[in-house]
Amino acid sequence: MPDTIQSVAIKVNVNGKPRSLKVEPRMLLVEMLREALDLTGTHVGCDTTYCGACTVLMNGAAVKSCTMFAVQADGAEITTVEGLERDGQLHPIQKAFGDAYGLQCGYCTPGLMLSAHHLLSRNQQPSEKDIRKAIAGNTCRCTGYQNVLKAIQLAAQNMKGA
Ligand code: FES
Ligand code: FES
Repeated sequence: MPDTIQSVAIKVNVNGKPRSLKVEPRMLLVEMLREALDLTGTHVGCDTTYCGACTVLMNGAAVKSCTMFAVQADGAEITTVEGLERDGQLHPIQKAFGDAYGLQCGYCTPGLMLSAHHLLSRNQQPSEKDIRKAIAGNTCRCTGYQNVLKAIQLAAQNMKGA
């Protein structure tokens, strides 16, 4: 048995930037984002696929980055909350969470925004049921979800008008 773990070379596009990294095969995607790339907007809550604080987009789909290895992202496009704003302007989803008071402590918020992004990229007029289903994997301990729903509805309206 070798006593050192061989690193694996991977290439990923993170928030529009191509990145080449060497990662241990056991490194989680969330560890790669937070520790190797310093993108600490992606949070870790449970580390067991329950809370959704670690949600990011992989090739446009919401995934829980604590439940994937970094090597599984080889060749993929990843978007974290840091990648939502453009040229210093908040993304309409980020703005709507602020305007509709869709957050309190904010720990769950990056994950909720990316789940909302996945929903709104496929469905521009989501019903309340659609929204509840889309965020079913994101736990929020503060808001009671009502203002999160309002924020996502507001984001949908604003994105339609944009
Ligand atoms: S930290 Fe990934 S689901 Fe909770
Ligand atoms: S705003 Fe605090 S956990 Fe959601």
